[in-house]
Amino acid sequence: MKAARTLAIPLAVIGFLMLLAGYQQQILSRLDFAALAPLRATLPHLISSGIWLAVAYLVNRIVGLVLWDPIHSRVPVPRLLRDVTGLLIYLLAITGIVGVVYDKPIGPFWAASGVGAIVLGLALRNVILDVFIGLAVNFDRPFEIGDYIQLGIGPTAGPTGRVMELNWRTTRLLNGEGNLVVIPNGRLSELIVTNFSRPERMSEFVLPIFLDFDVPTERALRVLSAAVASAAGSNGVLEQPSPKARLRGVSAQGVEYRIKYFVDPTIAGPGKARHEVLRTVLDQLHRAGLHPASPSQDVFHAPLPVRKLDARSADDRAQLLGRIELFKGLTDAERLELSSQMQERLVTEGTTLLRAGDSGASMFVLYEGLLHVTVKAESTGLETRVGRVHAGAFFGEMSALTGEPRSATVVAATDALMFEIDKEQIAALIDRRPELARVIAETVAMRRLRNSDALRLANAATVAVETSSLTSQLLGTMLSFFGISAKEAITTQKLDENSAQNPLA
Ligand code: CMP
Repeated sequence: MKAARTLAIPLAVIGFLMLLAGYQQQILSRLDFAALAPLRATLPHLISSGIWLAVAYLVNRIVGLVLWDPIHSRVPVPRLLRDVTGLLIYLLAITGIVGVVYDKPIGPFWAASGVGAIVLGLALRNVILDVFIGLAVNFDRPFEIGDYIQLGIGPTAGPTGRVMELNWRTTRLLNGEGNLVVIPNGRLSELIVTNFSRPERMSEFVLPIFLDFDVPTERALRVLSAAVASAAGSNGVLEQPSPKARLRGVSAQGVEYRIKYFVDPTIAGPGKARHEVLRTVLDQLHRAGLHPASPSQDVFHAPLPVRKLDARSADDRAQLLGRIELFKGLTDAERLELSSQMQERLVTEGTTLLRAGDSGASMFVLYEGLLHVTVKAESTGLETRVGRVHAGAFFGEMSALTGEPRSATVVAATDALMFEIDKEQIAALIDRRPELARVIAETVAMRRLRNSDALRLANAATVAVETSSLTSQLLGTMLSFFGISAKEAITTQKLDENSAQNPLA
């Protein structure tokens, strides 16, 4: 019945064309008009060509009926094979038309077709590649319709799905989301294809699970084996071969277990099966009071300790005072008190901070920057640099502690940040710490001597003697200036004990 239905149309077409061929003289005599002259000449050829093509049509259908349909009832036959066979049958029919109907030599026809084929081949390179790879896949049969395959491997793995069709140009997969993925056959030659349905219909999959070291392995295996066994039978996870849980290794993450299970991809894709196994495993672990290993090191986030100090904050300034030689011996509380009393002065390069001859009642501590100290040379009368004040040193102490006019001019060589301490604060400090007076007196003595032309040129021994006697003299002046006469004995005594040079000068 099916055969009759399949062959009826081509047989009817052949019959009709044969009828036309039999009556063509009568038909032509009835169409005896001048305008139809070309048709009269070609009609016999057209009818004969039609018969050849109709026979090819019939043969193609017979091949389908006797060859492809029986095979297809056992394994799905790719459309490509049917199409290629059909193409060959029609090519033979066309050759017959050229050779028999038009009585032309077949050789040049094939040669002309060859040239045409080359031109066409260059233009349709990719399409032809797709066709040939498609043919190769059909003969090589790395996968068949219905197989579950994955294209590519590793992190660059491409689509995964069931093969739905393999045609002239493309292979079509139905992926896990139910979408049709169309892959040009040419790409198949470049990619590694994993066929989950070969060599057997089922495929083995592995799921790693990490548990903490303190979970006894025997308990872990019991829970995991039970979990995977209960996943078997649903979503493509097979009961036979039975799934298993095995101990795999130990790493920083914990103890590694591997769950092996088998999937029939014709029932469900590997993704669905993995979902089922993982869901059951996590559920069973949870019920058993276990959970996958978590990192055994905790990371706490805390604000970083302050690594920089800012002289403009009173607390930081107090800390920085401790780095200044003169104030090293003060307690934290004393430094904090002093730092909160000091006045900030931020100046730009070139600013004249103190001018020789001016009166002054405060001294300064330089925190950042560099200062130049100049005096008018006695010999030349020219302004000459006699010293530099570096960060961490003090200046302006001479006037502040003796009441005399400023002995030199101080200019900012760079932008500079300093803090001013006035006379009352210095007095309170010296009252509490008389030893500071000695250190300052020593510095003042050295600076004064350095500023005098005669002593700058004198030898080291003379300078030492002069420094010592000037220090004693200055100390007396300072103490009486501040009215700290009661401390005189102590400081003078200390001064005699210590003849070390002051690093601040
Ligand atoms: P005073 O005299 O109050 O004012 C000018 C300041 O310059 C002076 O205090 C010292 O602090 C400082 N000074 C004077 N001579 C020198 C020097 N040779 N080296 C460094 N600083 C000096």
